[in-house]
Amino acid sequence: MTDLAEIFEVGPRDGLQNEKAVIPTDRKVAFVDLLSQAGFRRIEVGSFVNPKRVPQMGDSGAVFAAIRRVPGVSYAALVPNLRGLEAAQAAKVDEIAIFASASEGFSQANIGASIADSLDRYREVAEAANAAGLPVRGYVSCVAVCPYDGDVAPEAVARTAAALDAMGCYEISLGETLGRGTPEAIGAMLAAVTDRIPPGRLAGHFHDTGGMALANIEVSLKAGLRVFDAACGGLGGCPFAPGAAGNVATDAVYRRLTELGFETGLDPDILARAEAIARGLTTVGGEV
Ligand code: HMG
Ligand code: MG
Repeated sequence: MTDLAEIFEVGPRDGLQNEKAVIPTDRKVAFVDLLSQAGFRRIEVGSFVNPKRVPQMGDSGAVFAAIRRVPGVSYAALVPNLRGLEAAQAAKVDEIAIFASASEGFSQANIGASIADSLDRYREVAEAANAAGLPVRGYVSCVAVCPYDGDVAPEAVARTAAALDAMGCYEISLGETLGRGTPEAIGAMLAAVTDRIPPGRLAGHFHDTGGMALANIEVSLKAGLRVFDAACGGLGGCPFAPGAAGNVATDAVYRRLTELGFETGLDPDILARAEAIARGLTTVGGEV
């Protein structure tokens, strides 16, 4: 029997959020529409955050309004607070993601709140979303290294993950925000987290600054994880994580998972076109 693994495409959100060039809404829509044909079950399309802080995501509502939704695909968005949730509901997102941190430095830089305060805020968001029947995914950022605080203890990651789990997140994505985590550090972190949350409810989200993302995915597979976030073109990074490079590229994850005998359900030809579009979006920016 073939082992299944899923790639959660985060390119339209994490991939594009850090781009300085203005990428026109219609080009984002074309990118998402192509991704919808590739076989992804979940696509992170945008975020409903303060547009002054992340201008590139300011048109997320317009992107959601214009995409052609394929039945069976869940179109997701990041939501930082109740105001973001309202905007996400107005845009008819299929699921939301709330995003906390395992390190205080990044929590302050990213969302202007301590970990504890952010969890209080997210509890309200998750409660309201769950009451409305909207699935909630949780992110933990800085699961290995924080750009401000340095190495992050595995237990700190497990604590934030457990808090998101207790709010009713259906899956927790473990964000290696800086892309500097070693396979050893990832292994230790996963041991701590899987003590509290079964691996089938976890996802790996690896940025690839140090070229270790694929090795970190292999460590995660051994720990039982079967969902990995990736961005076509290897784009991305968080504007509030200086020094972080893009997400691991979707085609690289697809090839590695396939080599290892996992079935992803993705169409490699459409994936190749999406990779080309993603790279073109950032090199041409608003010119075409
Ligand atoms: P704040 O700016 O810290 O302070 O917001 P505030 O709450 O006082 O709000 C200030 C302004 O934002 C006000 O407007 C609010 O109305 C507005 P002003 O009076 O200045 O005109 N505002 C909003 N506008 C639109 N939508 C909203 C909203 N909320 C407030 N929902 C906040 C706090 C969290 C909103 C802010 O800090 C923010 O938007 N931060 C951006 C965080 C972000 O998007 N980071 C990148 C994504 S996380 C990531 O990339 C990591 C991940 O990939 C995993 C990994 O790799 O680790 C997920
Ligand atoms: Mg990220």
